[in-house]
Amino acid sequence: ARKIIIDTDPGQDDAVAILLALASPEVELLGISCVAGNVPLALTAKNARIVCELAGRPEMRVFAGCDRPIARPLVTAEHVHGKTGLDGIDLPDPTMPLQDQHSVDFIIETLRTEDAGTVTLCPIGPLTNIATAMERAPDIIPRIQEIVLMGGAYFEVGNITPTAEFNIYVDPEAAKIVFGAGVPLTVMPLDVTHKALTTRARVEAFRALPGRVGPAVASWTDFFERYDKEKYGSEGAPLHDPCTIAYLIQPDLFSGRHINVEIETGSELTLGMTVADWWRVTKRPANAQFIGDLDADGFFALLTERLGRL
Ligand code: BDR
Ligand code: CA
Repeated sequence: ARKIIIDTDPGQDDAVAILLALASPEVELLGISCVAGNVPLALTAKNARIVCELAGRPEMRVFAGCDRPIARPLVTAEHVHGKTGLDGIDLPDPTMPLQDQHSVDFIIETLRTEDAGTVTLCPIGPLTNIATAMERAPDIIPRIQEIVLMGGAYFEVGNITPTAEFNIYVDPEAAKIVFGAGVPLTVMPLDVTHKALTTRARVEAFRALPGRVGPAVASWTDFFERYDKEKYGSEGAPLHDPCTIAYLIQPDLFSGRHINVEIETGSELTLGMTVADWWRVTKRPANAQFIGDLDADGFFALLTERLGRL
Protein backbone atom coordinates (compact mmCIF):
# COMPACT_ATOMS: atom_id res chain seq x y z
CA ALA A 1 0.00 0.00 0.00
CA ARG A 2 1.11 3.51 -0.76
CA LYS A 3 1.76 5.54 2.39
CA ILE A 4 -0.07 8.85 2.42
CA ILE A 5 -0.74 11.87 4.61
CA ILE A 6 -3.98 13.75 3.98
CA ASP A 7 -3.66 17.46 4.74
CA THR A 8 -7.16 18.81 5.00
CA ASP A 9 -9.79 21.39 6.04
CA PRO A 10 -13.02 19.34 6.24
CA GLY A 11 -15.42 20.26 4.44
CA GLN A 12 -17.94 17.71 3.11
CA ASP A 13 -15.81 16.82 0.09
CA ASP A 14 -12.71 16.50 2.29
CA ALA A 15 -14.71 14.13 4.48
CA VAL A 16 -15.50 11.94 1.49
CA ALA A 17 -11.82 11.92 0.51
CA ILE A 18 -10.85 10.76 4.01
CA LEU A 19 -13.51 8.04 3.93
CA LEU A 20 -12.32 6.83 0.52
CA ALA A 21 -8.76 6.56 1.84
CA LEU A 22 -9.86 4.74 5.00
CA ALA A 23 -11.80 2.24 2.88
CA SER A 24 -9.04 1.50 0.38
CA PRO A 25 -6.26 -1.05 0.88
CA GLU A 26 -4.18 0.55 -1.89
CA VAL A 27 -3.33 3.42 0.45
CA GLU A 28 -2.08 3.42 4.02
CA LEU A 29 -3.17 6.60 5.78
CA LEU A 30 -0.36 7.54 8.20
CA GLY A 31 -2.24 10.45 9.70
CA ILE A 32 -4.50 13.38 8.97
CA SER A 33 -3.01 16.86 9.29
CA CYS A 34 -5.59 19.61 9.61
CA VAL A 35 -5.28 23.19 8.46
CA ALA A 36 -7.49 26.27 8.56
CA GLY A 37 -9.50 26.73 5.37
CA ASN A 38 -13.16 26.06 4.76
CA VAL A 39 -13.69 26.82 8.45
CA PRO A 40 -11.26 27.81 11.23
CA LEU A 41 -8.73 25.27 12.52
CA ALA A 42 -10.63 24.26 15.68
CA LEU A 43 -13.51 23.10 13.48
CA THR A 44 -11.42 21.35 10.81
CA ALA A 45 -9.55 19.42 13.55
CA LYS A 46 -12.88 18.47 15.10
CA ASN A 47 -14.46 17.52 11.77
CA ALA A 48 -11.60 15.22 10.78
CA ARG A 49 -12.17 13.26 14.00
CA ILE A 50 -15.93 13.13 13.44
CA VAL A 51 -15.20 11.54 10.06
CA CYS A 52 -12.77 8.98 11.51
CA GLU A 53 -15.28 7.98 14.16
CA LEU A 54 -18.04 7.71 11.56
CA ALA A 55 -15.78 5.27 9.71
CA GLY A 56 -15.13 3.31 12.91
CA ARG A 57 -11.46 4.31 12.94
CA PRO A 58 -10.92 6.21 16.24
CA GLU A 59 -7.29 5.07 16.37
CA MET A 60 -6.38 7.23 13.37
CA ARG A 61 -4.02 10.06 14.31
CA VAL A 62 -5.41 13.55 13.67
CA PHE A 63 -3.23 16.65 14.05
CA ALA A 64 -4.01 20.36 14.16
CA GLY A 65 -1.69 22.64 12.21
CA CYS A 66 -1.52 26.21 10.96
CA ASP A 67 -4.46 28.36 11.95
CA ARG A 68 -3.89 31.01 9.28
CA PRO A 69 -2.15 31.48 5.92
CA ILE A 70 1.54 32.38 5.76
CA ALA A 71 1.09 36.06 4.92
CA ARG A 72 -2.60 36.89 4.91
CA PRO A 73 -5.71 36.79 7.03
CA LEU A 74 -7.76 33.59 6.74
CA VAL A 75 -10.60 33.49 4.22
CA THR A 76 -13.21 30.79 4.97
CA ALA A 77 -16.02 29.19 2.97
CA GLU A 78 -19.03 28.81 5.24
CA HIS A 79 -21.14 29.95 2.29
CA VAL A 80 -20.36 26.58 0.69
CA HIS A 81 -19.88 24.20 3.63
CA GLY A 82 -22.14 25.70 6.31
CA LYS A 83 -21.29 27.05 9.72
CA THR A 84 -19.73 23.83 11.04
CA GLY A 85 -17.93 23.01 7.78
CA LEU A 86 -19.77 19.69 7.78
CA ASP A 87 -23.38 20.85 7.65
CA GLY A 88 -25.91 18.35 6.32
CA ILE A 89 -26.14 15.82 9.14
CA ASP A 90 -25.73 16.05 12.90
CA LEU A 91 -23.02 13.67 14.04
CA PRO A 92 -21.83 13.27 17.63
CA ASP A 93 -18.88 15.30 18.89
CA PRO A 94 -15.71 13.22 18.65
CA THR A 95 -14.35 11.44 21.68
CA MET A 96 -11.06 10.33 20.07
CA PRO A 97 -8.13 12.57 21.00
CA LEU A 98 -6.51 15.24 18.92
CA GLN A 99 -2.74 14.60 18.82
CA ASP A 100 -0.54 17.03 20.75
CA GLN A 101 1.96 17.33 17.92
CA HIS A 102 1.50 20.18 15.40
CA SER A 103 0.61 19.09 11.84
CA VAL A 104 3.82 20.64 10.49
CA ASP A 105 5.98 18.70 12.96
CA PHE A 106 4.09 15.50 12.15
CA ILE A 107 4.71 15.99 8.43
CA ILE A 108 8.41 16.71 8.97
CA GLU A 109 8.92 13.80 11.38
CA THR A 110 7.09 11.34 9.15
CA LEU A 111 9.08 12.27 6.06
CA ARG A 112 12.34 12.01 8.02
CA THR A 113 11.59 8.63 9.61
CA GLU A 114 9.92 6.79 6.72
CA ASP A 115 12.19 5.62 3.89
CA ALA A 116 12.91 8.40 1.40
CA GLY A 117 10.52 8.38 -1.56
CA THR A 118 7.82 6.31 0.13
CA VAL A 119 5.42 8.95 1.48
CA THR A 120 2.89 10.79 -0.71
CA LEU A 121 1.23 14.00 0.47
CA CYS A 122 -2.41 14.64 -0.40
CA PRO A 123 -3.24 18.28 0.37
CA ILE A 124 -6.93 19.03 -0.11
CA GLY A 125 -7.07 22.41 1.61
CA PRO A 126 -4.90 25.55 1.58
CA LEU A 127 -1.20 24.61 1.34
CA THR A 128 -0.08 26.35 4.54
CA ASN A 129 1.03 23.26 6.48
CA ILE A 130 2.91 21.74 3.54
CA ALA A 131 4.74 24.96 2.61
CA THR A 132 5.60 25.68 6.25
CA ALA A 133 7.09 22.19 6.59
CA MET A 134 9.15 22.72 3.42
CA GLU A 135 10.44 26.06 4.62
CA ARG A 136 11.28 24.84 8.09
CA ALA A 137 12.88 21.54 7.00
CA PRO A 138 14.04 21.69 3.38
CA ASP A 139 15.68 18.26 3.84
CA ILE A 140 12.22 16.67 3.61
CA ILE A 141 11.58 17.97 0.08
CA PRO A 142 13.59 15.32 -1.83
CA ARG A 143 12.12 12.62 0.44
CA ILE A 144 8.52 13.24 -0.75
CA GLN A 145 7.41 10.57 -3.21
CA GLU A 146 4.74 12.74 -4.81
CA ILE A 147 2.22 15.45 -3.98
CA VAL A 148 -1.30 14.88 -5.28
CA LEU A 149 -3.35 17.96 -4.47
CA MET A 150 -6.73 19.52 -5.11
CA GLY A 151 -6.37 23.12 -6.14
CA GLY A 152 -6.34 25.59 -8.97
CA ALA A 153 -8.30 26.04 -12.14
CA TYR A 154 -7.61 26.98 -15.71
CA PHE A 155 -10.38 26.71 -18.28
CA GLU A 156 -12.95 26.50 -15.50
CA VAL A 157 -11.33 29.54 -13.88
CA GLY A 158 -12.41 30.54 -10.40
CA ASN A 159 -14.81 29.69 -7.61
CA ILE A 160 -13.74 32.31 -5.02
CA THR A 161 -12.68 35.09 -7.41
CA PRO A 162 -13.16 35.15 -11.18
CA THR A 163 -9.68 33.70 -11.65
CA ALA A 164 -8.81 31.79 -8.47
CA GLU A 165 -9.79 28.51 -6.89
CA PHE A 166 -10.35 28.54 -3.10
CA ASN A 167 -7.45 26.39 -1.83
CA ILE A 168 -4.83 28.33 -3.81
CA TYR A 169 -6.46 31.72 -3.20
CA VAL A 170 -6.49 31.32 0.57
CA ASP A 171 -2.71 30.88 0.75
CA PRO A 172 -1.06 31.79 -2.55
CA GLU A 173 2.36 32.25 -0.92
CA ALA A 174 2.18 28.66 0.31
CA ALA A 175 1.07 27.45 -3.10
CA LYS A 176 4.01 29.22 -4.73
CA ILE A 177 6.41 27.37 -2.43
CA VAL A 178 4.80 23.99 -3.11
CA PHE A 179 4.58 24.43 -6.90
CA GLY A 180 8.19 25.59 -6.95
CA ALA A 181 9.62 22.83 -4.78
CA GLY A 182 10.58 20.47 -7.58
CA VAL A 183 8.57 17.58 -6.15
CA PRO A 184 6.56 15.35 -8.54
CA LEU A 185 3.18 17.08 -8.46
CA THR A 186 -0.25 16.02 -9.67
CA VAL A 187 -2.95 18.69 -9.54
CA MET A 188 -6.73 18.22 -9.54
CA PRO A 189 -8.03 21.65 -10.62
CA LEU A 190 -11.68 22.68 -10.96
CA ASP A 191 -11.39 21.67 -14.62
CA VAL A 192 -11.58 18.04 -13.58
CA THR A 193 -13.43 18.25 -10.26
CA HIS A 194 -16.38 20.04 -11.89
CA LYS A 195 -16.85 16.85 -13.90
CA ALA A 196 -17.15 14.71 -10.75
CA LEU A 197 -20.76 15.75 -10.15
CA THR A 198 -23.17 14.24 -7.65
CA THR A 199 -26.22 13.51 -9.79
CA ARG A 200 -29.44 12.27 -8.14
CA ALA A 201 -28.75 8.67 -9.11
CA ARG A 202 -25.22 8.83 -7.68
CA VAL A 203 -26.40 10.29 -4.37
CA GLU A 204 -29.18 7.72 -4.07
CA ALA A 205 -26.59 4.99 -4.61
CA PHE A 206 -24.69 6.34 -1.57
CA ARG A 207 -27.89 6.53 0.46
CA ALA A 208 -28.79 2.95 -0.36
CA LEU A 209 -25.52 1.57 1.03
CA PRO A 210 -25.82 -0.50 4.18
CA GLY A 211 -24.37 0.98 7.38
CA ARG A 212 -24.02 4.59 8.53
CA VAL A 213 -21.45 5.93 6.12
CA GLY A 214 -23.34 5.90 2.80
CA PRO A 215 -26.41 7.71 4.17
CA ALA A 216 -24.18 10.28 5.94
CA VAL A 217 -22.34 11.00 2.68
CA ALA A 218 -25.69 11.39 0.91
CA SER A 219 -26.82 13.92 3.55
CA TRP A 220 -23.59 15.87 3.16
CA THR A 221 -23.85 16.01 -0.61
CA ASP A 222 -27.52 17.03 -0.37
CA PHE A 223 -26.38 20.05 1.63
CA PHE A 224 -23.25 20.73 -0.40
CA GLU A 225 -25.13 20.58 -3.71
CA ARG A 226 -27.38 23.55 -3.13
CA TYR A 227 -24.46 25.96 -3.53
CA ASP A 228 -23.31 24.71 -6.93
CA LYS A 229 -26.85 24.25 -8.19
CA GLU A 230 -27.68 27.87 -7.43
CA LYS A 231 -24.35 29.31 -8.43
CA TYR A 232 -23.44 27.33 -11.54
CA GLY A 233 -26.78 25.77 -12.44
CA SER A 234 -24.99 22.44 -12.37
CA GLU A 235 -26.71 19.12 -11.89
CA GLY A 236 -25.04 18.40 -8.56
CA ALA A 237 -22.01 19.20 -6.46
CA PRO A 238 -18.43 18.64 -7.55
CA LEU A 239 -16.68 16.10 -5.32
CA HIS A 240 -13.39 17.98 -5.57
CA ASP A 241 -11.18 16.43 -2.93
CA PRO A 242 -11.89 12.70 -3.40
CA CYS A 243 -10.37 13.03 -6.90
CA THR A 244 -6.91 13.02 -5.28
CA ILE A 245 -7.45 9.72 -3.48
CA ALA A 246 -9.22 8.12 -6.44
CA TYR A 247 -6.19 9.04 -8.57
CA LEU A 248 -3.88 7.17 -6.20
CA ILE A 249 -6.14 4.11 -6.29
CA GLN A 250 -7.04 4.10 -9.99
CA PRO A 251 -4.94 6.59 -11.97
CA ASP A 252 -6.34 5.43 -15.30
CA LEU A 253 -9.62 7.18 -14.43
CA PHE A 254 -7.83 10.50 -15.04
CA SER A 255 -5.97 12.23 -17.86
CA GLY A 256 -3.95 15.41 -18.01
CA ARG A 257 -0.76 17.03 -19.19
CA HIS A 258 2.66 17.66 -17.74
CA ILE A 259 2.93 21.43 -17.98
CA ASN A 260 4.25 24.53 -16.29
CA VAL A 261 1.96 26.03 -13.65
CA GLU A 262 2.85 29.28 -11.87
CA ILE A 263 1.00 30.92 -8.99
CA GLU A 264 0.04 34.59 -9.03
CA THR A 265 0.88 36.23 -5.71
CA GLY A 266 1.24 39.88 -6.70
CA SER A 267 -1.85 41.03 -8.54
CA GLU A 268 -4.86 42.08 -6.52
CA LEU A 269 -7.10 41.22 -9.45
CA THR A 270 -5.84 37.71 -10.14
CA LEU A 271 -4.39 36.73 -6.76
CA GLY A 272 -4.06 32.97 -6.40
CA MET A 273 -4.55 32.24 -10.08
CA THR A 274 -2.89 29.05 -11.31
CA VAL A 275 -1.37 30.23 -14.57
CA ALA A 276 -1.29 26.91 -16.39
CA ASP A 277 0.61 26.69 -19.67
CA TRP A 278 -1.77 24.06 -21.07
CA TRP A 279 -0.85 24.86 -24.70
CA ARG A 280 2.86 25.02 -23.88
CA VAL A 281 3.29 28.50 -25.28
CA THR A 282 6.25 29.26 -22.99
CA LYS A 283 9.54 27.45 -22.60
CA ARG A 284 9.06 27.26 -18.85
CA PRO A 285 9.75 23.73 -17.65
CA ALA A 286 6.88 21.48 -16.63
CA ASN A 287 6.43 21.32 -12.86
CA ALA A 288 3.06 19.60 -12.57
CA GLN A 289 0.78 17.04 -14.07
CA PHE A 290 -2.38 19.12 -14.50
CA ILE A 291 -5.43 16.87 -14.72
CA GLY A 292 -8.16 17.90 -17.15
CA ASP A 293 -10.54 14.98 -17.43
CA LEU A 294 -11.88 11.95 -15.60
CA ASP A 295 -14.13 8.99 -16.19
CA ALA A 296 -16.94 10.22 -13.93
CA ASP A 297 -18.95 6.98 -13.99
CA GLY A 298 -15.82 5.00 -13.13
CA PHE A 299 -15.01 7.45 -10.34
CA PHE A 300 -18.47 7.15 -8.76
CA ALA A 301 -18.47 3.37 -9.16
CA LEU A 302 -15.17 3.20 -7.27
CA LEU A 303 -16.35 5.62 -4.58
CA THR A 304 -19.67 3.86 -4.01
CA GLU A 305 -18.08 0.44 -3.83
CA ARG A 306 -15.47 1.65 -1.34
CA LEU A 307 -17.90 3.58 0.89
CA GLY A 308 -19.91 0.37 1.05
CA ARG A 309 -16.96 -1.34 2.72
CA LEU A 310 -16.99 0.97 5.74
C1 BDR B 1 -11.84 23.29 -2.64
O1 BDR B 1 -12.22 24.29 -1.70
C2 BDR B 1 -12.92 23.71 -0.64
O2 BDR B 1 -14.07 24.45 -0.39
C3 BDR B 1 -13.19 22.28 -1.00
O3 BDR B 1 -13.12 21.46 0.15
C4 BDR B 1 -12.10 21.96 -1.98
O4 BDR B 1 -10.94 21.51 -1.33
C5 BDR B 1 -12.58 23.52 -3.93
O5 BDR B 1 -12.26 24.77 -4.46
CA1 CA C 1 -10.90 20.91 1.02
